[in-house]
Amino acid sequence: MESNPTDLSALVISDKEFKMISELVLDKVGIHLADNKRTLLVGRFRKYLLENKLTFTEFHQKILADKTGNMQNDLTNMITTNHTFFNREATHFAFFLKTVLPEIDLDMKQNKKSDIRIWCAASSTGEEAIMIKLKMMEHFGVRYNSLNAGMLATDISTKVLNQARSGIYLQDNFKDLDPKIIDKHFKKVSPEKYKVNDNIIADIHYTIFNLVTGHYNFKQKFQVIFCRNVMIYFDSPTKEKVINSLYNVLEPGGYLFIGHAESLSRIKHSYLDIQPAVYRKPQ
Ligand SMILES: C[S@@+](CC[C@H](N)C(=O)[O-])C[C@H]1O[C@@H](n2cnc3c(N)ncnc32)[C@H](O)[C@@H]1O
Repeated sequence: MESNPTDLSALVISDKEFKMISELVLDKVGIHLADNKRTLLVGRFRKYLLENKLTFTEFHQKILADKTGNMQNDLTNMITTNHTFFNREATHFAFFLKTVLPEIDLDMKQNKKSDIRIWCAASSTGEEAIMIKLKMMEHFGVRYNSLNAGMLATDISTKVLNQARSGIYLQDNFKDLDPKIIDKHFKKVSPEKYKVNDNIIADIHYTIFNLVTGHYNFKQKFQVIFCRNVMIYFDSPTKEKVINSLYNVLEPGGYLFIGHAESLSRIKHSYLDIQPAVYRKPQ
């Protein structure tokens, strides 16, 4: 039955239509849509079709004909789950501060280097990248300004990247952050919203990157990669491909942080297992 754009509460996505969307998503976005995501997807589709006054068939025809990439963006924004918050999986940031940054610092001093290259992959709205930056500032203090220490923060969704660039966050996202940090680094801009100070996001370079289809040809390797809570959306072969692509762009001795719910146990890889959800490339 063709869906009627004026009565979307009755929108039913047939098995055939769900298969068509799943194939599109796998082909264009690289995400494997499991059957258990169907209810979620249908809900988001309903909203999108209603807002754009489209039937399912019209949507499908339009996306296949679209050469601008806008429809693919819409599809990506529709299917991705961007939930994140400050200090999520806090043990990682503690380990980064206590162990990883002192090691990087020592290596810089011993080898007279001044650059730090960190990649926050699947950064969503930027809370994770800001946490990394705050920990770097905490470790280096005023020395931070004399370092060549930019950060790459990427995501597949243009919507979350734009939000990250704005630096504006809802009060709810701060629940796990020390109020002293909020006072020091954020300004209240409305009763529920805060804006992060410019000096925090000035050297975070937010850009689009699809971990599945992207080309990992970076000029220099990274000392640390955070790639957390995104591989849960990938099937095993995709996860293995991404994990090994990240390995190739890590420096020897570099660290990889993944989400605590994401295991590498069934994946072929060469990382050393350091602690829960922390891996290291051998020296
Ligand atoms: C649940 S959020 C995780 C955010 C953050 N890393 C954290 O741990 O809180 C997952 C993010 O992965 C992004 N994502 C999904 N598939 C992706 C892909 N193939 N390449 C890059 N990012 C992707 C989504 O847009 C979303 O912002």
